[in-house]
Formats: sequence, structure tokens, C-alpha cells
Amino acid sequence: MLYRYKIKIKKTESGQLKYQLITSYINPNIIGNVFSSVYMTMISNLPDIIFLCGFMGSGKSTIGRGLADSLEWPFLDLDDKIEEIAGQEIPEIFEREGEAGFRTIERRALLEVARKFKGVVALGGGSLQSQHMVDHLKLKGLLIFLETPISVILGRVSGDENRPLLLDKRGNPKNKKVLEQDLQALYDERLPFYKQAVINVANDGSKSPEQIVEILLKKIRNHVEDY
Ligand code: S3P
Repeated sequence: MLYRYKIKIKKTESGQLKYQLITSYINPNIIGNVFSSVYMTMISNLPDIIFLCGFMGSGKSTIGRGLADSLEWPFLDLDDKIEEIAGQEIPEIFEREGEAGFRTIERRALLEVARKFKGVVALGGGSLQSQHMVDHLKLKGLLIFLETPISVILGRVSGDENRPLLLDKRGNPKNKKVLEQDLQALYDERLPFYKQAVINVANDGSKSPEQIVEILLKKIRNHVEDY
């Protein structure tokens, strides 16, 4: 395990030991200025990569960025990595290579990221479609599920033309009823994989992204302390 912090220890005139946090991956503004052994435990046990999973529209990118900022870690959106590898945007990949072609690139991108990247990763909604991938990511880092009810998701994503799964074969937005049925079926299929995440946070639209990040930090801390 790599240590991700540096501390300065000083002895005061009265003989007391004082600890000063010099660098860490935890933003002192978030945890307060108290540097205790609790935080030392947290930092030293924290895996160096966090994966955020969840359905499209569950807030993976927004929350992921917020979490990365709080931890002072790099952030990576898997959809961006896929576009970089393919040299095309996601709708174009679907158009030219079909969904199967997209999934092949997505799998390759994710395995590469899990091998090389350190920081917070927002997965795509369909990145977890095999038990093997779930096991692999849990072995490599901390898997977190952002749980959002399908009713909330529908409100957030309908009308978005950049998500090919929301469009019909002609490339037009699916009508409301078909979209609802299709998304519900996809959600039911994927939920058993999402649910295997080590930490689960509800993002049902009742809390701000900042509040979700705070809840997440507490859950991560509790998890790492129990580790
Ligand atoms: C997909 C979700 C998208 C993107 C692609 C396929 C899916 O990512 O990877 O359109 O299968 O659910 P977001 O979850 O970031 O929208």
C-alpha cells in the first residue's frame, strides 16, 4: 500500500507532539483542519482508483468530478476515453460499428483505465455488463453505485440526442412510452451488476451534487475504516 500523505511532527515546549498535514489526497476544507489518526487510516487504506457506476443520467460525471476535487485526485470520464481511442464521438461509433462495436471499444478502454489510471472514474451506464468486469473493477479499486430511480432518469435524459440508446432505428428520439419501456428493461438487466458495488448512494434529485459528494466522503471514510 502506498502512503498518500506527508506529515510533520513537532514537539512543543510542554512536550506535546503536534502533527501537521503537509500533503494528502484529502482536501482539508472538506474534512476540517483536524488531522487525526482516523484520517491517517482512511488515507493509507484508500484504494487509488474509484469507479462510479450507475444508469445514464444518474449523475456519474458531475458527482465524480466533485468527488475528485474533494479528494484532490484526477478525474476521468470513460466516455471521453472511448472517444479518444476511437477518434470518433459516441453517436458516430454506434452508427458505424453498431452497439457491439461500441461495447468492444468500451471494454478495451475500461481495462486500460483500470490498469493505468489513478483517480476517480465515471463509467458509462453500460460498462458493467458481465460478472467478470464487476469482479475485476472491485479487485482494482473501490466500486460505487449512484442509485437513481428510473422515473428521475427519464426526466433527465429524454430528448438527449447524444445518447444513441434513446433513439430509434432511424435516429429519431423514441416516443415516451417506448423509451420508458426500453429504459426500464435495460435498468432491470443492469441492476444486479450495479448492486454489487461496495458503496451505494441514492441520487434521486432531492440533494445537490455537493451534498451527495459529502455523503459519499462519509461513506468512503466509514468503509475504509472498517477495512
Ligand atoms: C450508455 C451510456 C452512455 C454511453 C453510451 C452508452 C449505456 O454513458 O456510454 O451512450 O449503455 O447506458 P452515460 O451513462 O455517461 O450516459
